[in-house]
Amino acid sequence: MNPSSLSERDQQVIWHPYTQHQQSEPPIPIVRGEAALLYDDAGNAYIDAISSWWVNIHGHAHPYIADKIYQQALALEHVIFTGFTHEPAVQLAERLLKILPGDFKKMFYSDNGSTAVEVALKMAIQYWRNKEQPKRNKILAFRHAYHGDTFGSMSVSGRGLFTDAFQDFLFDVLFIDTPDGENKDQLNAFIRSRADEIACFIYEPLLQAAGGMRIYEAAGLDALLKTAKENQILCIADEVLTGFGRTGTFFASASLTHTADIICLSKGITGGTMALGATACTGDIFDAFLSDDRKKTFFHGHSYTANPIACAAGLASLDLLQKRTCIEQIQVITKRNANFLKETLIKIDPDLIMNPRTIGTVLAFELKSNRHEYVNLVGSYIRQEAIKQGIYLRPLGNTVYIMPPYCISPVQLEKIHQFLLSLPRLIRKNEQG
Ligand SMILES: Cc1ncc(COP(=O)(O)O)c(C=O)c1O
Repeated sequence: MNPSSLSERDQQVIWHPYTQHQQSEPPIPIVRGEAALLYDDAGNAYIDAISSWWVNIHGHAHPYIADKIYQQALALEHVIFTGFTHEPAVQLAERLLKILPGDFKKMFYSDNGSTAVEVALKMAIQYWRNKEQPKRNKILAFRHAYHGDTFGSMSVSGRGLFTDAFQDFLFDVLFIDTPDGENKDQLNAFIRSRADEIACFIYEPLLQAAGGMRIYEAAGLDALLKTAKENQILCIADEVLTGFGRTGTFFASASLTHTADIICLSKGITGGTMALGATACTGDIFDAFLSDDRKKTFFHGHSYTANPIACAAGLASLDLLQKRTCIEQIQVITKRNANFLKETLIKIDPDLIMNPRTIGTVLAFELKSNRHEYVNLVGSYIRQEAIKQGIYLRPLGNTVYIMPPYCISPVQLEKIHQFLLSLPRLIRKNEQG
């Protein structure tokens, strides 16, 4: 390796997220992006099949968003968001509140998905305290959920490898299974039996993403939301991933009859260009914080709350998302994934490709292996093989999935599908070797 290469300089000074540096390959230096492609310093192109950790929806370096960011940076790059306000923050809230599925009245900004969740949890807990019902202090969440990496968001996430080291520091949460068509009565009975203690119920609507791209049924979730609402439990929809078109509709909650009291947004909110989190709540929740008693204030804020450049990027991304072309792109990917699954993937090698499934622009399946230890390594093996073929994938253990930017071309999507079809052959060859 050239001693002055970016990879080598990186390895001297950088600690990467979710990376075991003792085993990992040197990172690939990316110098530019265009639409669904990323280019490295040697000119190699990679199709970004997972939208750079699920954030990028309109493609990389989109000129329309880039221009709006530039214009905003020239006018106002940042300003403290207490005592001051600005047009991009207000306009983005106005536009989002209009399209969010629910009766949301106020928007609270932060700067990533985990903080959007922290804000939601703190709002819900303090809501009950402000209402002088402090006994409502438990949180209900789904097993296998993933809500982020800060302590609050880790606490409400499924416990496992990611949270193990911190187990003693996580607060108690009531965990239930996701609805599966058979456990509805049992889950509803559990909620009713503990209702007096439960402040809020947090869920990823329809799709548990980092927990393994688990798709679950809308009707079952709706029934749980109904029970929660009948028992005054605040419902928190974590749409950090599912928001902005991922599951086919603008927001996954739009497929449900019962709407949330709080909704968490991030990732696609800026089209994947700037860090921004947003938590919207109903008027009832906001009103519970209005008081002459200072203790009822929501004491939460981040230095970059409602950063004007991020909000301007959010507005630009929303402009693109609401265009007919983008809505059609989402429909085309949804249809192509569904056809690919039904006509080819499901038949290719059922012994190896398990539980293929799709929702909106997401397609996933598990890879089976005869060699147990290999299951854990299969993800990194596939990632390396994909890179050789100009595709960026990042399986979750043995769960292989794709989640491309909406602007991906049919040819690029086909190339990813063909790669997925080649996996049984690759895996068998590797297991024999
Ligand atoms: C549903 C959900 N909530 C919250 C988060 C955390 O977001 P961030 O990584 O921006 O902190 C994620 C990230 O993957 C997520 O998928």
